Amino acid sequence: MSQTVRPRARAKISALGTYVPPRLLTNADLEKMVETNDQWIQERTGIRERHIVEKGVATSDLAVEAAKKALAKRGIAPTDLDAIMIATVTPDMLFPSTACLVQHKLGAKGAWGFDLSAACSAFVYALQTGTQFIETGAHKKVMVIGADVMSSIIDYTDRATCVIFGDGAGAVILEAAEDDSTGMIDFIHEVDGSGGCSLYMPGGGSLNPATHETVDKKMHFVHQDGGAVFKYAVRKMAELCEKILQRNGFKGSDLNMFIPHQANRRIISATAERLGLSEDKVIINIDRYGNTTAGTIPLAMHTAMEEGKLKKGDLVLLASVGAGFTAGATLLRWAY
Ligand code: UT7
Repeated sequence: MSQTVRPRARAKISALGTYVPPRLLTNADLEKMVETNDQWIQERTGIRERHIVEKGVATSDLAVEAAKKALAKRGIAPTDLDAIMIATVTPDMLFPSTACLVQHKLGAKGAWGFDLSAACSAFVYALQTGTQFIETGAHKKVMVIGADVMSSIIDYTDRATCVIFGDGAGAVILEAAEDDSTGMIDFIHEVDGSGGCSLYMPGGGSLNPATHETVDKKMHFVHQDGGAVFKYAVRKMAELCEKILQRNGFKGSDLNMFIPHQANRRIISATAERLGLSEDKVIINIDRYGNTTAGTIPLAMHTAMEEGKLKKGDLVLLASVGAGFTAGATLLRWAY
C-alpha cells in the first residue's frame, strides 16, 4: 500500500533582502532615446521608472548587496549558509556561475551553489529547489537570490523592449519551519518549450557564439513577440493560480496577499480579477522597478513588507510566467 511521505519539516522564508542600483531611468529619459511617450508606457505597461546599473556593475554585485541585507536581517554570517542558488538570465559571464562569484564575494566559505536559468520564473523555480534541500533535511540554511541586470541585454534603440525592463535583485534565506503554521505549502511549475521563439536572446550561446556578425545583427539583445507572451501570460498565470488554490482547498478570497511577477500591470490585474482579489491584496510595484526578471518577486515581497501588508501566518500566492515559456505558482504561509 502506498503511503504519503511527509517531509521532515516545511521550509520557510526566514529573511529577505533586496537591492536596486541607485541610477534611475525614467519614462521621460526614454522619450529622449526612442519614439515613445510616458502616457503609452504607463497605459500599456504600468511602468513609470526603472533602476539600471552604471557600467561595470554586474548581476553578482546586485546579488551580494541583497544577500548581505538578508543575512543582516536574519542575524547570521555568510559562513552559516549551506548553499546559494542564483536565479538569473544575465549571469556575469557564462562560467563560472554567478553563484560561485557571489559565494566568494560574500565569503560564504561553507556554501556550494549554482545558477538556475528560467527567465522570469527562475525565482519561483529556485525557491522550490532550495525548499527541497531544507525539506529533505540535507541543508539547514539555503540562500535563494533572484538577480538580473537586464540593461546588459537590452537594445536601447528598440522601443518595444527597452521601456519594459529594469535591474534589481532580491535574496531570501530558507530554513526549516518550527511547525506547519508557516512555510511552503505547494507549488506548480510548467514549461511549454514551443514558446521559446517568442522571447529569447539568440546570440552568445553555443548556437550563435559571438562574432562581428552576431553583434551587427543585434543577436545579443532580448527579442520579444510581446503580444504572444502577453496572451500566454494572462491565460497561464490565472490557470496556475486557480489550480494551486483549488487543489489545496482554498479560494481566492482566502488569500492574504498575491505577489506576482511584475511584467505588465495589465497581466497582474487580469489575474487578480480572475481570482476575485481586491486591489489591496495584490502587490504591484512595476511602476517603480519595471520588469527585473528574476528580481521581481522578492522585490515585490519587500514592497509588501514595507507597506506593512505581510504578517506571520498570512496565506501568500506567488506566480510567474516568462521566457521558455516557463510558468510557476507557489503557495506559502508567511513566516515572520
Ligand atoms: O517577463 C517576461 C515576459 N514578458 C511579458 O510578459 C511581456 C508581455 N507583453 C507585454 O507586456 C506587451 O505586449 C507589451 C508591453 C510588450 C506591448 O504592449 P502591447 O499593448 O501588446 O503593444 P503592441 O506590441 O501590440 O503595440 C501596439 C502599438 C504598435 O503600434 P501600431 O502598430 O499599432 O501603430 C507599436 O508599434 O504600440 C506601438 N509601440 C509603442 N508605442 C510607443 C510599441 N512599443 C511602444 C512604445 N512606445 N514603447
